[in-house]
Amino acid sequence: MGDRGHQPPAAIPGGRLLFSLDPAVAHLNHGSFGSVPISVQRAQQRLRDEAESNPLRFHTVGLVDRIAHTRRHLASFVGADPALTALVENATVGTNLVLGSLRLGAGDEILTTDRGYGAVRLAVDVTCRRTGATSRTVNIPLDAADDAIVAALAAALRPGRTKLLIVDQITSSTARLLPVTRIAAAARAQGVPILVDGAHVPGMLPVDVTAIGADFWVGNFHKWAFAPRGTALLTVAPAWRERMEPLVVSWEQESGFPTNVEWRATADYTSWLAAPAGLFTLRTLGVDAVRAHNTALAAYGQRVIGEALNLPPAELPDPGGPVAMRLIPLPAGIATTQDAAAALRQRIGEQLAAEVNIAAWNGRGYLRVCAQVYNRPEEYERLARSLPTLLG
Ligand SMILES: Cc1ncc(COP(=O)(O)O)c(C=O)c1O
Repeated sequence: MGDRGHQPPAAIPGGRLLFSLDPAVAHLNHGSFGSVPISVQRAQQRLRDEAESNPLRFHTVGLVDRIAHTRRHLASFVGADPALTALVENATVGTNLVLGSLRLGAGDEILTTDRGYGAVRLAVDVTCRRTGATSRTVNIPLDAADDAIVAALAAALRPGRTKLLIVDQITSSTARLLPVTRIAAAARAQGVPILVDGAHVPGMLPVDVTAIGADFWVGNFHKWAFAPRGTALLTVAPAWRERMEPLVVSWEQESGFPTNVEWRATADYTSWLAAPAGLFTLRTLGVDAVRAHNTALAAYGQRVIGEALNLPPAELPDPGGPVAMRLIPLPAGIATTQDAAAALRQRIGEQLAAEVNIAAWNGRGYLRVCAQVYNRPEEYERLARSLPTLLG
């Protein structure tokens, strides 16, 4: 097991003041929707002001180039080739784009894991219904080691038939770093395309997207890279560049990937253009310092809440790496369905003034805490004190 969270980290000075979060609430769920620093909110507002001062000029003079400049900036942050990378609104859009570009038919299949994100699962289901393809799911037990995960996925591939393997780089509701570079190598060895869903990766982990060697990689900048919501990248391997089908066909269609994917006609592009301000904020705080702080604080939060629920350390799932999200299993019988999980999350928000993620996964309820520079150890301690009574 990695960091057991015995000591909380020192605070990042001024971290809390960068955000406009309600101070009466413990915001322990950065992973779901992020939080946009005030400076980045202002940068986006300035861009909106510019657009409103002359909408015609904003949209017709230089906007495509400004988007390309932003793409190059964000792509270099994650080690992706800008010529093979498109700005998209979010990981869900990127995934749908990939699914829509595969030209699936009857007899084809998509392989996923039971750690996958719910909306991606729904997109796979709809794609299968539309195309006649089928899907299969590989189980990844909570305590599975990396070797076992790679072996299980490699064994599940059916070359020629499996047209896409989708694997999360950091799983969402189960907060686990998966060995995607090894999984991608196993898929490549069998000629099966792989989509790595790195929704939580930009900002949270150091990453070299090209080195992962996936056919497709998607990552959100609005979670851990402080970008305005609606900012993500989709990177494709060279062989896929010409085959990508935009979800919206518009004026840049003839420009090809990535511009035809990015240009969605009259739309608000200011979240993308303001995204470099998010990276500037992260770099100003110190990217490594922020990562170390967040990982250690999430581990601390897991430990104190786990102790409050009388869980031995061995029952607290290890995220498998420097992940700023940690999982606490809930007592048996609590939040075992998605509806019950959503209801519990709401009760914790309303009654304990704490925002957390609650998920039902394979018949058990799990609480997920995240850590960001605006969080303090006391917020997890306060939740740990009040949670047992609420659950009891
Ligand atoms: C693994 C994973 N994939 C996809 C998503 C969807 O992200 P978005 O809503 O930005 O599309 C999430 C969001 O938490 C996620 O964790």
